[in-house]
Amino acid sequence: MWSWPLEAGTSHSVKVGVPTLKGASVTAEIVKHGLGDKIVVFKFKRRKNYARKQGKLFNAADVLVLTTPMWNYNMPAILKAWFDQVLSPGITYEVEKTGPKPLHSIKKVVLLVASGGTYKEDDPADALGRGVAAALKFIGITDISVAWADGQNPLYFDNSETRKQMALEAVQEIAEEVAEMAAEF
Ligand SMILES: Cc1cc2nc3c(=O)[nH]c(=O)nc-3n(C[C@H](O)[C@H](O)[C@H](O)COP(=O)(O)O)c2cc1C
Repeated sequence: MWSWPLEAGTSHSVKVGVPTLKGASVTAEIVKHGLGDKIVVFKFKRRKNYARKQGKLFNAADVLVLTTPMWNYNMPAILKAWFDQVLSPGITYEVEKTGPKPLHSIKKVVLLVASGGTYKEDDPADALGRGVAAALKFIGITDISVAWADGQNPLYFDNSETRKQMALEAVQEIAEEVAEMAAEF
């Protein structure tokens, strides 16, 4: 029995207590014990200042290494989301009348890609390489080295393993080039 009801009534009239209804009580009978359906609770925690924090890291770097698969001829949505957060005015560049003024000091970008198919240079189907280059050029970055493990779908390419090894060799060369550059930083 509960003796502190807050309100009581029918569909026609309701009495509301201040704060409880004097003299009113509620009685109930337990007819069954059991567990209800399991409830899944999703908690959404907003990342605080994500763009600003990522921007700080970006602006402090000399070399940026991006590693990504090609999905639907483009970068995966999560990488695009990162670009949209970081390549933003006030984060990595300032908007000026003469054009964007970089806030970063990135000297080189290394782009490591894997794709199922193969793409020729400046292939119109390749929205990934062209998109990354265009977005970085906008903020003043033009030195981009690419190592691309293409033809990684073994159903269509019987040399996919060789292609991967070639990409790894390209990575090695880029790493040596970056190490030489770093001596000048
Ligand atoms: C959702 C999805 C979309 C893909 N789209 C393409 C594509 O447009 N072009 C392509 O060449 N390969 C595409 N691929 C193949 C991947 O690029 C390929 O498997 C690559 O090796 C992925 O790298 P990972 O094996 O390290 O994940 C796609 C793969 C997935 C899962």
